[in-house]
Amino acid sequence: MTTLVGYATAQGSTRGVAERIAAILTAAGIEVDLQAAREMGPAHGYDTVVLGSAIHNGQWLPDATAAIERLDLPANRCAVWAYSVSSVGATSTTLSPRVARYLRRVTPEPDAVQMLRTRTELRDHRFFAGAIAPGDWPGFGRIVFRLMGGRYGDARDWHDIDTWARTIGGEITENRH
Ligand SMILES: Cc1cc2nc3c(=O)[nH]c(=O)nc-3n(C[C@H](O)[C@H](O)[C@H](O)COP(=O)(O)O)c2cc1C
Repeated sequence: MTTLVGYATAQGSTRGVAERIAAILTAAGIEVDLQAAREMGPAHGYDTVVLGSAIHNGQWLPDATAAIERLDLPANRCAVWAYSVSSVGATSTTLSPRVARYLRRVTPEPDAVQMLRTRTELRDHRFFAGAIAPGDWPGFGRIVFRLMGGRYGDARDWHDIDTWARTIGGEITENRH
């Protein structure tokens, strides 16, 4: 059985997270398909799906939401894990630490993740911080980013991403024995 690692990205940092998750699973001896969300079809033939998206305006990108429909999860009984890549991750952020602490408390799960919960027993959902460059935020968003103490750069916490991926790998390996 193979694990599908899917991602939707606008500027590339979510693809980097997906590549890292895929590399960790591969190193654990797990067969992995890495696919952009728009290439994904039904989850047929996969025992595990790890799907994630960049966050724009609080939500997953349309490609990732559309991929959920095509996965046909009720028919393909696989374990599903989800991740979101935004300004504020569980352990790092591109915003000021104070704003990030507040946002962690009040930010709801994206609608797409809630949709996954209605269709499958979602194993886990985790927020990772991504990367942001000057020019990524359009007009007004750039002002809000500055007001929230935003700093341009790459805030991905590879240790946290690796730890999460190893948890997934551990569960896959355990279920196969
Ligand atoms: C148009 C736009 C909207 C965004 N909206 C949000 C948001 O609502 N919340 C948030 O935490 N980050 C937001 N971000 C930041 C991105 O989620 C973050 O930079 C992420 O790393 C982008 O992933 P990507 O490089 O895979 O596209 C936004 C970025 C852009 C460009």
